[in-house]
Amino acid sequence: MKMVLASKNPKKLLELQAILSAQGIEVVLESQVGIDVDVEETGTTFEENAFLKAHAVMEAGGLPAVADDSGLCVDALNGAPGVYSARYGGPGLDDVGRYRLLLENMRGQLDRRCRFVSAICCCFPNGDRVEARGECPGTLAYAPKGSDGFGYDPIFFLPERKKTFAELTAEEKNAISHRGRALEAFGEKLKAYLEG
Ligand code: IMP
Repeated sequence: MKMVLASKNPKKLLELQAILSAQGIEVVLESQVGIDVDVEETGTTFEENAFLKAHAVMEAGGLPAVADDSGLCVDALNGAPGVYSARYGGPGLDDVGRYRLLLENMRGQLDRRCRFVSAICCCFPNGDRVEARGECPGTLAYAPKGSDGFGYDPIFFLPERKKTFAELTAEEKNAISHRGRALEAFGEKLKAYLEG
């Protein structure tokens, strides 16, 4: 079976392919099947946004389509930046600007609890959906540390490891990350769905 990944990111393709190839599923990027849809992420939850992306690409190509949406939720900020993680602070900021702004908005705050969340949604042309969610709890560091990873990794601290996500190797991060957990759950749910 062929499944279209609603993303332009080849790294996401590799991650998904690694999980789904064992099930005989070929995952391709939307660009590889001539699809180019610009989906506005207007949802208020990660699940809604993953669905909006997957559904639009499924409709455009008539093939099963899968999408993910993720972000960082900080308890003391009522879950912000959440679904706005990629856009936090507006279009003028890069990854470093966004995490600096977050540290600034958390200045003096002692409750540092936060979590990364990832939602995956796969839409089938018959209207069926398979969805999965993964979370990784941690605390917000007071200053960035580490140089691997991307986004908010340098300020996401794992107390049990005494390291930020940016101080872990890709393998170490994938084994415990929100995305790794969501992908694993998704692989199992998809298998159960396909086996009927
Ligand atoms: P998405 O690509 O629309 O899901 O946006 C996700 C945004 O959340 C990214 O731009 C990052 O800012 C943040 N994010 C999601 N997952 C991670 C992660 O594993 N590390 C660091 N930042 C992440």
